[in-house]
Amino acid sequence: MPKASGPGRRPDPALSNAKYRQRAARYDLELLPFEPVRTEAIALLDVRTGDTVVDVGCGTGLSFGPLVGRVGAAGRIVGVDPSPEMMALARQRVAQRGWSGIALLEATAGEAPLQGRADAALFLFTHDVLRDPDALDHVIAHLKPGAHVVAAGLQWAPPWMLPANLFVLGAAMYSVTCMEGLEQPWTMLAKRLRDLKVQTRGFGGIYIVSGRVPGAAPAGESH
Ligand SMILES: C[S@@+](CC[C@H](N)C(=O)[O-])C[C@H]1O[C@@H](n2cnc3c(N)ncnc32)[C@H](O)[C@@H]1O
Repeated sequence: MPKASGPGRRPDPALSNAKYRQRAARYDLELLPFEPVRTEAIALLDVRTGDTVVDVGCGTGLSFGPLVGRVGAAGRIVGVDPSPEMMALARQRVAQRGWSGIALLEATAGEAPLQGRADAALFLFTHDVLRDPDALDHVIAHLKPGAHVVAAGLQWAPPWMLPANLFVLGAAMYSVTCMEGLEQPWTMLAKRLRDLKVQTRGFGGIYIVSGRVPGAAPAGESH
């Protein structure tokens, strides 16, 4: 299994912003091969019409369309991302589609001025956030008891899956600032959620995990 190299051992939001400043204009095209993962992760999210979902590290808003499809016009999506260039494209997408239920917070997940408690959260291709315990605590503090959380992204495949791991190494060097935890990127999330389910795809190089915020959903609100 490759050792940590290149990016550091801890998430670095300033370095991340520099990466996505360069990358924003071509990001949507680069993500095309990963759209099946997005589709599957969002389909897994246990939400209903009218629910509020926090899209953590929302980037250019590639998940907004499918999320609007899940929560409907009465639902709300809160997109959080610190990259000005990625957020500019997210804002443009929202304006072009005329979505009125989407709020965009240009901030790190740990510092975003989240209001109230949402019904669900999505962490898609957000390794840096998943390895930041303060960011996870902040987001989870703004989710209802029983809220559903889905995360998906790249991880080290088993060591004998060399081509998959070479791909993960290249993608990680390109996309994240923290190589720590790529064996199981969801471990910090696992400590904060109940009913964790882990699935893998792509020869083990892709994870999709889901779980719930501890505590029971209020009566009549269980999904
Ligand atoms: C690979 S992109 C994923 C974007 C989007 N979730 C998607 O599925 O297309 C990673 C995103 O995480 C954002 N990011 C990096 N550090 C972050 C942090 N501390 N809090 C929130 N978002 C962060 C980056 O700006 C970037 O837009």
